Amino acid sequence: MTTVESLRTPGAMRDAERWTAHNYHPLPVVVAEAEGAWVTDVDGRRYLDCLSGYSALNFGHRHPGLIAAAHAQLDRLTLTSRAFVHDQFADFCHELAELCGKELVLPMNTGAEAVETAIKVARKWGYQVKGVPAEQATIVVAEGNFHGRTTTIVSFSTDPEARNDFGPYTPGFRIVPYGDLAAIAAAIDDTTVAVLLEPIQGEQGVVVPPAGYLPGVRELCTQQNVLFVADEIQSGLGRTGETFACDHEGVRPDMYLLGKALGGGIVPVSAVAADKNVLGVLRPGEHGSTFGGNPLACAVGTEVVRLLRTGEFQTRSAELGAHLHSALRGLLGQGLVAVRGRGLWAGIDIDPSLMTGRQACERLAERGVLAKDTHGSTIRLAPPLMIEADEVDWAIEQLTAVLR
Ligand SMILES: Cc1ncc(COP(=O)(O)O)c(C=O)c1O
Repeated sequence: MTTVESLRTPGAMRDAERWTAHNYHPLPVVVAEAEGAWVTDVDGRRYLDCLSGYSALNFGHRHPGLIAAAHAQLDRLTLTSRAFVHDQFADFCHELAELCGKELVLPMNTGAEAVETAIKVARKWGYQVKGVPAEQATIVVAEGNFHGRTTTIVSFSTDPEARNDFGPYTPGFRIVPYGDLAAIAAAIDDTTVAVLLEPIQGEQGVVVPPAGYLPGVRELCTQQNVLFVADEIQSGLGRTGETFACDHEGVRPDMYLLGKALGGGIVPVSAVAADKNVLGVLRPGEHGSTFGGNPLACAVGTEVVRLLRTGEFQTRSAELGAHLHSALRGLLGQGLVAVRGRGLWAGIDIDPSLMTGRQACERLAERGVLAKDTHGSTIRLAPPLMIEADEVDWAIEQLTAVLR
């Protein structure tokens, strides 16, 4: 018989808390194994994963094709550094460039590194191609953004938790309200090299901008000779029901920033994709990373691109996403006050008089559903794209019970 004393979770939670910096506040779940949309904890309890590693697990846990690609590569070659070329590199860059409809790819590891890469490339493009005076480049960004955790990136965050006490801050960013085209137009001047945006703001609570905003940004950037940089690190690679969230409005940015799901939930892989007139500004020695574009990352990343080229995951996300959103809308007034999102990606606001987002996630976990609050009473739902319709229904049943 399992008694509370024999459970391994409390001790494992205590040990984790004892030995790490407290830069996260995890739910009391200690995961030991996972397959597909389900994880199992150290005490044998199963949970439906409705967070998917912040969309890094779009294909589910341990997708057989991705695991096979990783295993095959582990047995051959794992690291060279970019001092040499390896036999997985060109295929990955070629396939990803084609998926993005761009001429070149620059692989890195984490999402924040892709964002940093884009900032450097946009600035250099500004000085060398656009003719911005030295050291004057500005980049327009949006309020409520989340682009990562480096000192430069938190310099233009509007979230006090992410930013406060980490100064001095990097200059060169102009922050405008998200979804406001006129504000971007007003912020652009001769020094502006880029507009950097999430096409849907994930960490902010899966905030979808008004229709016409992204095409408007595209047009403005083209008119003003400014690069449109789309951070699709969380929104891209099938999450919203299209390959890229920009596709919903037929928009093609100058730079795509990708990460998370590009590593198949196995290794950190990120990338910047752009044409030669943009990425071509970099010369040897100006940028790089020891692990960026390593053989294991490329082998897994190539398989990720092949999975996306089938279109299966985009279709599943669109169809099951419609199902998820209609079920969630049915809970409006029944404990939910707002539902946003696209595809299998939803931001839901719990009625704050009932409970916080954190409390809702704790109660969901007790019922076998893993989700994570973003802030306040907002929860983000992002199940793996291979989830089945009856599993979506089951998750909604658990949410309904939690809100009751
Ligand atoms: C839109 C967006 N950009 C960048 C990042 C940073 O990615 P990473 O945590 O891999 O550095 C994130 C992470 O949540 C993100 O959602």
